[in-house]
Amino acid sequence: MRILFVGDIFGRPGRTIVQERVPDLIRDRNIDLAIANAENAAGGFGLTPQIAEELFDLGFDALTTGNHIWDKKEIIEYFNSVERNPGSPARKIVRPANYPVGTPGFGWYEGRTHGGREFSGVPFAVINLQGRVFMANNDDPFRTADEILKKLEAKVILVDIHAEATSEKVALAWYLEGRVTAVLGTHTHIPTADEHILPGGTAAQTDVGMSGPYASVIGVQKDLIVQRFLSNMPSRFEPATEDVRLCGAIIDCDSETGRATKIERIMIREHD
Ligand SMILES: [Fe+2]
Repeated sequence: MRILFVGDIFGRPGRTIVQERVPDLIRDRNIDLAIANAENAAGGFGLTPQIAEELFDLGFDALTTGNHIWDKKEIIEYFNSVERNPGSPARKIVRPANYPVGTPGFGWYEGRTHGGREFSGVPFAVINLQGRVFMANNDDPFRTADEILKKLEAKVILVDIHAEATSEKVALAWYLEGRVTAVLGTHTHIPTADEHILPGGTAAQTDVGMSGPYASVIGVQKDLIVQRFLSNMPSRFEPATEDVRLCGAIIDCDSETGRATKIERIMIREHD
């Protein structure tokens, strides 16, 4: 079966290219399971329930996030609503699992692939973890992964490691080798050219890159960020608009064992 993972959807430019390209990508590339990181889909900061549901309508089966998931406050009530309504699409959004106990939301999701696709009804799981190097002081993402894996029944398991440091992401991929289908990095918004299959059958890429405007500093208007570095003064960050690209990875795996057999890095430019 084939998995599409789309990297950090950034603001309206990111949402637009995703809307324009993902339905065709799912159809033309025979995607059985589609997942995206959407932590910055709302104006470059956070995620709203409405935007999440628009992404589900495009064909995504689950969404991962990261440190910016709390930027739009309504997401907290959306997560909390799952207790009253377990069938809510909010349950298909995961936030980093290694936040403190009691944090709103869920760190992993288990579901089955969509009907109508070639491999439908296949159990899958998505785990979201956040790095600790140059980031908030969360629980250990390595041991958090161990604990979650004990609870999962699915064999097809995708891990989004949302982290700054390449070393931490590469180490996590080796740590989870043979136990999950893919360990894919997000957060830096810069795609890395190291996609490969580890010998144990785990696909890995240190960062799949942003889906958003690349004529920017990681999505934000470049002049604002340059000025920030020059002055150290706080300033408002606005999403950039130019050179929009959709970045991510496509992974082939065995639907029964979850072992990955192939990973392809993708970058689609707006005028391609
Ligand atoms: Fe992030």
